[in-house]
Amino acid sequence: MTAPILRRLPDLRAKTAEWRRAGETIAVVPTMGALHAGHLSLVAAAKDACDRVMVTIFVNPRQFNSPEDLANYPRTEHEDADKLAPFGVDLIYVPDPDQIYPDGYATNVSVGGSITEVMEGPFRPGHFDGVATVVAKLFLQTSADKAFFGQKDYQQLMVVTRMARDLDIPIRVIGCETVREASGLAMSSRNLLLSERALAKAAALNAAMREAAAKASAGEAWPPLEAAARQALAEAGFGDVEYFDLRCAETLQALGTPSKPARLLAAAWMDGVRLIDNIEVPQLNF
Ligand code: PAF
Repeated sequence: MTAPILRRLPDLRAKTAEWRRAGETIAVVPTMGALHAGHLSLVAAAKDACDRVMVTIFVNPRQFNSPEDLANYPRTEHEDADKLAPFGVDLIYVPDPDQIYPDGYATNVSVGGSITEVMEGPFRPGHFDGVATVVAKLFLQTSADKAFFGQKDYQQLMVVTRMARDLDIPIRVIGCETVREASGLAMSSRNLLLSERALAKAAALNAAMREAAAKASAGEAWPPLEAAARQALAEAGFGDVEYFDLRCAETLQALGTPSKPARLLAAAWMDGVRLIDNIEVPQLNF
């Protein structure tokens, strides 16, 4: 059976109040819909962690950088509800736009500092403000105890963790492993926008990342590894590679060689679709 869909905040609050009165814990999985196996793995983790699980679906206009990208974002509410049915989700919150941004809405949540100044930050101005704002609202509206996010959006995970901590929102943010296609391609709602052929070519991103990470861990210098990866991506049919960066996993500052813990993060365009990915980089063993 598909879970009930609520679209108005008072209805959501009535339900969560009922759960609270019964002493139940609540998990939320915030999404923009177009659910895939990555989202479903978050739902499974949420089910293990809390008595009640809700999934939110809201295509948040404030985090898009162009009207075309917003218009093209896949919207598949019925299919999403069907995919969630086997998981026994307790409710799906699909807020009407005015439940998030009512008339006269004027507040922005902006996470500053090193984690938003790099990578996605300069390439997607305002994106993390949009994410932090909507996620703060979803945390407050759902009053969940735990929230589940994919590590595929690693920088986003850091931003929402920082935001919840800074604003004293009593929620635990949990990051779950990226789910991948057999080819290594990270699952993403944006993959739906790629042709079969482009999907096959897109696997080169993760392959290049794994190769560069392994060589960096073995002690090779980073700049030639990055140059070789960019070359391999161009040959595989990628357009612009916006960044292909070896970073400190905690601060996102640049690293010359993997110190602990390190992360390799990349963004690149395939057939007009912007793909991002990141992997852990094993540290050097001296
Ligand atoms: O990762 C996403 O799907 C979105 O950025 C999120 C966290 C649901 C906020 O709109």
